[in-house]
Amino acid sequence: MGWDRRIFLSVCLIASMTTSWAVAEDWLPPGSTTEMIGVKPAELLDPSRELSNQVLLGRLLFRSPSLLGEKAIRIGMSCDSCHTNGHVNTSFYIEGLSDRPGRIDVSNRFWQAGFDDNIDNPIDIPSLRNVKSKTELGTKVIFSNLPAFTRHVISTEFAGPPITEGEMNALVSYMNSLDINGLDTRYIYATTGIDSPYAGLLTRPVQAQDFQQVDSLIDLIRADLGRQVTTETRAKISTKIRLMKSLRAAAAADNYEEAKAFLEKLKR
Ligand code: HEC
Repeated sequence: MGWDRRIFLSVCLIASMTTSWAVAEDWLPPGSTTEMIGVKPAELLDPSRELSNQVLLGRLLFRSPSLLGEKAIRIGMSCDSCHTNGHVNTSFYIEGLSDRPGRIDVSNRFWQAGFDDNIDNPIDIPSLRNVKSKTELGTKVIFSNLPAFTRHVISTEFAGPPITEGEMNALVSYMNSLDINGLDTRYIYATTGIDSPYAGLLTRPVQAQDFQQVDSLIDLIRADLGRQVTTETRAKISTKIRLMKSLRAAAAADNYEEAKAFLEKLKR
């Protein structure tokens, strides 16, 4: 093989490598930021509603990209990426879809081919604190109630899969508990000593021997823990993930006595 041909082949190889990189990067243009930079706004929850299982499940869903469509999953974006802790992610910026940080065009084909108004119209990401007392939601498309608007956000704006009635109720409960005068959840966690707030969600499905529920909850909790890995939390989170794996395997084998034992360890 002559040098010319060798050089030609290496150039092709490099070119094809950069092409595949470019494809991966197309999902999120360079210069984009979808997670809040710096100190996040406090999550303020109405103390009279406490952290019920309903609110906790809603909180988990609010933080899960799986609720939104394919694009969101690829870029790891959840409701919380924009409405951080129920407030506003003032750093949120997607090149081409935002004009300033904290603003985004939600009616663009980037999110969903069939729902594009063909106008470049980024708008402010609103805070959801006190969303419960609003009678009109949205700016271009207006809805009078939270479940209807939420359905619109998930299926029309972000092309997400259909969500169950139970998931919708939980998500709406969580949003309804966001309160401008609420208690900071960091304080709630510190005073109650809750370390794994979501483990309790598994109690009922384990008792009811409902494998489907156990399976889908473990999926959500595992992903949520995965997003919180830091050098300090890594070891603790790995232990929890291993326990959930064992719990799931025990439940899959219909051994709910063993599943209960793993759940007790997980709750500690
Ligand atoms: C890419 C950023 C982004 C994501 C992700 C996102 N939103 Fe929003 N959200 C917005 C913007 C921008 C608006 C304003 C839309 C409008 O006025 O039409 C909005 C409006 C809302 C409103 C109405 C608030 C009001 O005061 O009118 C609710 C409720 C809401 N979003 C809930 C959610 C939920 C639940 C999710 C996840 C399932 C979600 N959002 C995901 C950006 C986002």
